[in-house]
Amino acid sequence: MSAPFVSIRNLQNHEGKTVAVRGWLYNRRGSKKLHFLQVRDGTGIVQAVAVKGDDEELFERAGQSGQEASVVVTGSVKLDERAPGGVELKLTDFAEVGAAHDYPLGKKDHGPDFLLSHRHLWLRSRRPTATLRIRDTIIRAIRNHLYQEGFANVDAPMFTPNACEGTTTLFEVDYFDDTKAYLTQSGQLYMEAAALALGKVYCFGPAFRAEKSKTRKHLTEFWMLEPEMAYASLEDAMTLAESLLAAVVGRVLEENRTDLETLERDVSKLEAIVPPFPRIRYEEAAAILKDKTGFKFGDDFGAPDEAAITEGLDKPLLITHWPHEVKAFYMKRDPEDDRWALGVDVIAPEGFGEIVGGGERATDLAFLDSQLKAHDLPEEDFRWYLDLRRYGSVPHAGFGLGLERTVAWICGLQHIREAIPFPRLLHRIYP
Ligand code: 4AD
Ligand code: MG
Repeated sequence: MSAPFVSIRNLQNHEGKTVAVRGWLYNRRGSKKLHFLQVRDGTGIVQAVAVKGDDEELFERAGQSGQEASVVVTGSVKLDERAPGGVELKLTDFAEVGAAHDYPLGKKDHGPDFLLSHRHLWLRSRRPTATLRIRDTIIRAIRNHLYQEGFANVDAPMFTPNACEGTTTLFEVDYFDDTKAYLTQSGQLYMEAAALALGKVYCFGPAFRAEKSKTRKHLTEFWMLEPEMAYASLEDAMTLAESLLAAVVGRVLEENRTDLETLERDVSKLEAIVPPFPRIRYEEAAAILKDKTGFKFGDDFGAPDEAAITEGLDKPLLITHWPHEVKAFYMKRDPEDDRWALGVDVIAPEGFGEIVGGGERATDLAFLDSQLKAHDLPEEDFRWYLDLRRYGSVPHAGFGLGLERTVAWICGLQHIREAIPFPRLLHRIYP
C-alpha cells in the first residue's frame, strides 16, 4: 500500500505514520553518512533525514537532486521540538519528479534587481511565500467582513472613457475606430451607481496609475478595495474603515503566526490595532509639522510628512477635512466651511503611510458641474455620472483601500514591490 499524501502543514496529525510529501527540494545539508533534506510544498518546510547505513541505494538517490528539483519524499513522521515546524520525516523512499540544475537563486545574497528579474522563481523563497499567504488572508478577511456588514460585490470595468483621480496618471489605450480608452484609476464612480442600486457595494480589482515616481509606495498596477454606501456620511466611511482594518489585522494574527515569524514582524505592533483609531483634521496635522519637514500649508502630505505626523502613534490615524484643492472633483464640501473637502485618509503607523483614501461624495448637480470645469474634465464623459444626481440622489460615502500598501504594512515590508506577486513599476514589467 502506498503512503498517503499529506501537506506539510498537517504533518503533526500523523505522528508515527508513514506518509508522502509532494514538493520541492529547498535545501540539502549533511555528511557522508547523513542527508538532511529540506522539502517545501507551499504550506511549510519539513526536514527529511536519510541515514546511509539504513539503505545505501536510497541514500545515494536522495543525495543527487539539485536545489528546487520537484520531489516526493516518503517517511515516518516523528514529532521533534528541535525540528523546524516541530516535525521530521525519517526517509523511507525518495523520487525525483522534475530535475533542477544550477538553480539561479542559490544560497548567496542577491540584489533586488536580480531578484525582481527572477520573480517567477523568487516566489518560491520563504519571505515571498509567507507574504503571499498573508496577502491571501487579507483578501479573504476583507471579503468576509464586508459580507457580514451586508455589502454586495459588484465589479467595475477596467476600460473607462474618463479620468477619476486626475488626468496626469492615466494610461491611455487604443480602443476601436480611433477611440481612446483609459485603464481605470479607480472603480469609485461605478460603485456610486451600484450603491444607488444595491445600497452597500464594493469592488475589488486592479487599478492603474501612470505614476512616474520611483518610490517605495507606488506601483503602476495595484489592487484596490472600494466599498461605497448609499445613505452614508464621512463618519460612516470612517467607522467602516476602522472596523475593516481591525478585522483584517485580527484575522492575520489568528491565521498567519508562522508567516509573521518568517518575516520577523513585531506582532505586538499588530496586536495594538484595536478601535477606536485617533482622528484629526488636516489643520491639526499641518500644525504638527510646523518647522519640521518643510511642509507648506495647503499642500498634500508627502511620505516624510506622513511619517512625522504619525510618529509615536501605535494605531492608524484618520485625517479629515482637507483643502479641497488637493482632493478630487467629486468630494463633498464641509457645509460649515467651504474650504474643506469631506475626505479622509488613513495613515498606517510605523511610517507605512497612506493606506486608505475616501470620503463623502458631492450630491449637488450644479456644484459637480462647476467642479468638472474647474478640474478640466470633459462633461460629455461624465453625463452618466451626473445622472446619478438627477435621479434619486442620496448622501453617500466610501473609500479605496490599497491592498499592497496594506500588505506591506501588516507584513512590515520595506518596499511595496514585495507585496504583489508580479510588481509593475516605472521601469519594470518583466517577468
Ligand atoms: O487615495 P486614492 O487615489 O483614492 C481613490 O482612488 C478613490 N477613488 C477611492 C475611493 O474613494 N473609492 O487611492 C486609494 C488608495 C490609497 O490610499 C493607496 O492605498 C492606494 O489606493 N494607492 C496606491 N497603491 C499603490 N500604488 C499606487 N500608485 C497607488 N495609488 C493609490
Ligand atoms: Mg489618496
